[in-house]
Amino acid sequence: MSTQKPGKKRPNSKPGPKPAVGEIIRKHLAQDDALGWFEELYAAAAGDPCFVPWVHLRPRQRLLTWIDRARPDGRGKQALVVGCGLGDDAEAVAALGYQVTAFDISPTAIRWCQERFPNSRVRYQVADLFQPPPEWLGAFHLVVEAYTIQALPPLIRVDVTLRIARFLAPGGRLVLIAQGIDSVEGRTGPPWPLTPEEVRLFQHCGLEEVFFQAHPQEDGGRLLRFLAEFRRPENG
Ligand SMILES: C[S@@+](CC[C@H](N)C(=O)[O-])C[C@H]1O[C@@H](n2cnc3c(N)ncnc32)[C@H](O)[C@@H]1O
Repeated sequence: MSTQKPGKKRPNSKPGPKPAVGEIIRKHLAQDDALGWFEELYAAAAGDPCFVPWVHLRPRQRLLTWIDRARPDGRGKQALVVGCGLGDDAEAVAALGYQVTAFDISPTAIRWCQERFPNSRVRYQVADLFQPPPEWLGAFHLVVEAYTIQALPPLIRVDVTLRIARFLAPGGRLVLIAQGIDSVEGRTGPPWPLTPEEVRLFQHCGLEEVFFQAHPQEDGGRLLRFLAEFRRPENG
């Protein structure tokens, strides 16, 4: 894994007050724009990782749990990290030997990844899940999705699920990390946590469930922590 620089501000950090995260999100959603707020939020952070609510500057613990359990050998295989944020999960997957492509809709996030991991083997790329390069379809032995689905409105959840599933090559594995909730009743967002039924939509996209774990989130009330693996059958 390449060296990361925790907490390091980007050189072009702008001084001055930042708009509130909630304000940025509300402004875009009020205009029926479900995607525009990500770039505005990363840009408003101006290199300060503390401004981005989901950033921890380390790989997701549940990804590390999956790696420990599955011990995958990525040599000679392709992996894709969806909505890669600041790149920590992508770096962890690259350390397993995979040739990793990590994409995000936010150009600022991708530049930030490249600055944090200047010697990385990961190919960081700006791309939109809804308009991916056609050569990505069916191309990956491993796809990692952490927290992107829940950041997008529930009304497009089926579409998002299908698009992620399509990246898998026959025999490919999907690792899904998400916040969960028992039912849609009273659900507000973003983020809109996934119900177990929404996780299992992957089975309607031609994937088989390998395992699906749900743990209560500390002090989270109805909130759960999901870790799941799905697989595309060899002949799928
Ligand atoms: C909640 S964050 C999670 C980031 C990272 N996966 C993590 O676990 O920290 C969701 C990420 O998905 C990205 N994203 C949202 N919509 C996207 C889209 N349509 N295509 C690609 N990336 C998208 C956002 O820019 C953001 O970095």
